Amino acid sequence: MAAGIVDLDAIASTARSELDAASDEAELEAWRVTHLGRKGTLTSVLRQLGGLEIEERRRVGSEANVLKGELEAAFEAKRDDLKGQKLAATMLEGQIDVTLPARKKRVGRLHPITQTTREIVDIFVSMGFSVAEGPEVETDYYNFEALLLDRDHPARDMQDTLYIDYERDGQYPFMMRTHTSPNQVRFMEEHKPPIRVVVPGKCYRNEATDPTHEWMITQIEVLAVDEGISLADLKGTLFEFAKRMFGQDRRVRFRCDYFPYVEPGVDMAIDCFICGGDGCRTCHQEGWIEIMGAGMVHPEILSNMGYDAERVTGFAAGMGAERIALLRHGIEDIRRFYQNDLRFLEQF
Ligand code: PHE
Repeated sequence: MAAGIVDLDAIASTARSELDAASDEAELEAWRVTHLGRKGTLTSVLRQLGGLEIEERRRVGSEANVLKGELEAAFEAKRDDLKGQKLAATMLEGQIDVTLPARKKRVGRLHPITQTTREIVDIFVSMGFSVAEGPEVETDYYNFEALLLDRDHPARDMQDTLYIDYERDGQYPFMMRTHTSPNQVRFMEEHKPPIRVVVPGKCYRNEATDPTHEWMITQIEVLAVDEGISLADLKGTLFEFAKRMFGQDRRVRFRCDYFPYVEPGVDMAIDCFICGGDGCRTCHQEGWIEIMGAGMVHPEILSNMGYDAERVTGFAAGMGAERIALLRHGIEDIRRFYQNDLRFLEQF
């Protein structure tokens, strides 16, 4: 280069060696400001061009512009290079050994009563029933009164009730529902016949527990209301259910029973799987285990619902999932279901 005021070669070589030395983004940015910035070395060269002879100005100007383009390209390349190095370092740091054996995941399962409840519901769904739900905290009205169990009805004693500690006018209007039957009324209030519905859910009673009694149980309420429904429909439906649930070999017993909200009322029992009907501790020496109450919906309830009880009839049933699970799986004590012993629960 001629003895000009600017030494482009010197600028170029300093800039190149400094760029090589930059080892991170901050250094790279400082380099950019020094050499390519508004007050950088190259820019000041271009600013000084005005003081040169025309020939010299042209030559230095174009050389400086070429150099500027080269340095910008070198800068970009260096920036990409640093980025790549950083990514490689991060990957190396977070490296995982894919050949290590995986950590074992403990997969849970449905509680046996949930399984049984779903099986029961599925059988009824396959027969054309739909599924509904209702609240576990009930009012005296739905749990008892609407089912013709007045305040002093002796049949209330069959279901020793857990009341909610809330008093109003000397009464305790809220309770844990003792059965799923309140949902007969709840459903009929909202629907017109024809009705085919099952309502599964937890129920609570102040029981002295024993091999077939728990204070929390799961019931499945069954309700069919339509013109022309008879006791034959009740029997046919419930026998079909028992056959599908327990197979052909199990014996089914059907007897008269009393529930104020049905007329006539019946109960259904299955022969005891432990003693085969001879009588044992699990079946209370009876040879049979009751799994449900049922009957024809009381006409008074039908007319209370605004139905024409001369034309519309219905049957209802309420069964206990825990008792059914006992019989299905040959479990000798209902209390095992809610003791949370994994050795027991993991068998299902
Ligand atoms: N609710 C009764 C019980 O819990 C069973 C039942 C349901 C009886 C429907 C008749 C009709 O024992």
